[in-house]
Amino acid sequence: MFKSKIAGVGSFLPEKVLTNHDLEKLVETSHDWIIQRTGIERRHIIAEGEGTSDMIVRAAQKALLDAKMQATDLDLILVATLSGDFKMPATACIVQTKLGAKNVMAFDLNAACSGFLYSLIVADQFIKTGFYKNILVVGAESLSRIVNYKDRDTCILFGDGAGAFILTQADEKDTNVILTGHAHAEGQHAELLWAEGGGTKVPFDQEVLDKGSHFMQMKGKEIFKNATRTMAACCKEALEATNTKPEQVDWIVPHQANLRIIEAVAGQFNFPMERVITTVHETGNTSAASIPLAFDAGIKDGKIKRGQLILLTAFGAGLTSGSVLLRY
Ligand code: UT7
Repeated sequence: MFKSKIAGVGSFLPEKVLTNHDLEKLVETSHDWIIQRTGIERRHIIAEGEGTSDMIVRAAQKALLDAKMQATDLDLILVATLSGDFKMPATACIVQTKLGAKNVMAFDLNAACSGFLYSLIVADQFIKTGFYKNILVVGAESLSRIVNYKDRDTCILFGDGAGAFILTQADEKDTNVILTGHAHAEGQHAELLWAEGGGTKVPFDQEVLDKGSHFMQMKGKEIFKNATRTMAACCKEALEATNTKPEQVDWIVPHQANLRIIEAVAGQFNFPMERVITTVHETGNTSAASIPLAFDAGIKDGKIKRGQLILLTAFGAGLTSGSVLLRY
């Protein structure tokens, strides 16, 4: 069995910013309420005329540069998203041609906010078996395109962006590898966070449009409780599987949904917030993009360094959840 390591990291945040004060003009809310309840100050919004693939290409090119690789070195492109360019085909295929990656397998994976961790775990399996050597793993979302800016329960939370890892087969002696990954789904809670209309069960029609049921709808309080429960459980699972104590972990990079959720998860392990990467103030919740965006920010801020032990954890619609423990 082989092991995989992170050869490169890259991310992209669009230039346009939507602040809490901008949202005050759209819905009945306030900067102070949003800060207090979520920690979010602003979110980035995709440029007009662009799609998720355009952000991915920029993030992927940076990750390839970091890995000192060309797009032609890739064997697989795996895109975690719930807001791809089109209903079909997969955004990964659009990325493949824009990057100029030849002869690759390319597919999308939808596990909502846990999508990036699901994808890392899938990519890790391809490398472990020796089937593929170099994999582009992406988390990317254009949530501003599927959020209802009349619904204050959701529109204050979400933003756009893309983050990418290049995963590659590690040398035998390399200790900077993915150590363990765990993922779960609890479909009985699907209705807590979903876009009910516009799929095959409730096809798009005038009623869907009038009700706005093609937009994201969320039962925030329920999601909050489940988020804390599942992320803490997934962290525990990764620590136990590797016989690791929380104090051995250098950084937790959690899904960036709400600062209070992040604090509650860290609190369950008495893990100091000084060793938790938080970017939610700057990005809002970018779903599948949030972990690679936060990871890249952690590197750029000089916090995350090679050789450190990093615990990633996420939860999202599904409900999905997961964790990955790795040495970077
Ligand atoms: O990746 C997964 C995606 N989802 C999440 O992570 C979301 C998880 N949930 C949350 O982050 C929180 O539940 C929210 C931030 C969405 C809401 O915070 P909360 O502390 O659970 O607030 P609440 O829903 O209990 O609402 C408290 C009050 C209510 O008013 P009353 O009934 O107390 O008079 C709401 O109507 O705040 C009101 N409210 C707002 N006020 C200003 C709800 N949304 C807003 C708003 N601005 N945007």
